[in-house]
Amino acid sequence: MKINKSTAKYSAIVGIGENLKKKSIETGEEYLFLNRGINQVVNIDLSEIIPMLDFNSAKMQYYPNNKGLPELTEAINKTYFGDKTKTENIFITAGGMNALYLTYRTLDVKKVFTPAFFWGAYTNLFKICKIPHEYYESYNELYENPEKFKNSSIIICDPNNPLGDKFDDEKLIETVGLLEKHNVTVVWDGPYRKLFYDETDNIYERLLEFDNLIITDSFSKSVGLSGQRLGFMHSKNAEFNEEFSIRLLFSGNGINMFAQWAVERILTTPEGKKAALNFRTKTVHDIAKNIEFLKNHGFLAEEFYKDSSPLGIFVIINLNYEQLLEYNIGSVPLNYFTLKKNIDTNKYARICVSVPNEKFEYFFKKMIK
Ligand SMILES: Cc1ncc(COP(=O)(O)O)c(C=O)c1O
Repeated sequence: MKINKSTAKYSAIVGIGENLKKKSIETGEEYLFLNRGINQVVNIDLSEIIPMLDFNSAKMQYYPNNKGLPELTEAINKTYFGDKTKTENIFITAGGMNALYLTYRTLDVKKVFTPAFFWGAYTNLFKICKIPHEYYESYNELYENPEKFKNSSIIICDPNNPLGDKFDDEKLIETVGLLEKHNVTVVWDGPYRKLFYDETDNIYERLLEFDNLIITDSFSKSVGLSGQRLGFMHSKNAEFNEEFSIRLLFSGNGINMFAQWAVERILTTPEGKKAALNFRTKTVHDIAKNIEFLKNHGFLAEEFYKDSSPLGIFVIINLNYEQLLEYNIGSVPLNYFTLKKNIDTNKYARICVSVPNEKFEYFFKKMIK
């Protein structure tokens, strides 16, 4: 059998998780899985949503509309775009990864630049799409030298994975404007933002002024439904959308209706909004307390947060994978998230701070004694 090899690698982070789970079973000891990329403070309570979904209906049982459940694209338009975009610009995808993959399958760009510290999956995605991958040092570099990135694509991820840092919105919007003048296609990959912002957040509405910008987002983090595999892509470019739509159709023949309907109910009904608010309030509260704890005890790697502030759901701490493992704390080494050579990645690890504060402090306090 001849294989069309992508040269991409199976996620090494998944391997770390499997190893830690094995260790916890073998030793019978409790581990804190801060290697994970999910919100673990609380689950979203869907008990009032489930009864609203009619599993005996044609809507649930027949093929879904290729570009997404119309009520869901309308809800996204209202909630995320202040009703200012056209629903035909929104495409429902099987999570953010699927949105990104189809985006880079569709775009014809010579190169893609990610932040210097980036979600490791981007590397593999670009390998599969055969697009050379480089990085930019900082948003300042984009702002000061936008011409360097002419005709390529730039990913902006804010708050970022793995740093969990948040930049000034005004500066980011200004930067996108400068890049657009140099024909840079900006992919605004923002699955973390909406966890921290409510319906009054108008960032996407403001980004509508740009023609060369694609938004990819997901419900994995903002409402904690990573298991449902739901996200979306937004673009104003009709030609791009036409090709994206074809690729979306042939990648999965529509997106699971349970996930779409459930999220539509979360975005539009009082019960759904209440469930999302409870989830976000509790999650953000504990994330903030955990970051505060790390700062107060000198664990936060402050050198990464000179021009930004750590918001979550991840942060970089100045302990490495092995040091954390001695205290049964899972993490991911920093070298999984950068191509940079001028930094001693062995000194640091990425941890997820979206876990119950009491448990988080219980594990970390053992290190202080
Ligand atoms: C930066 C970034 N973008 C996109 C995603 C995609 O998430 P999902 O496919 O679960 O929606 C992730 C997930 O960890 C991420 O960290």
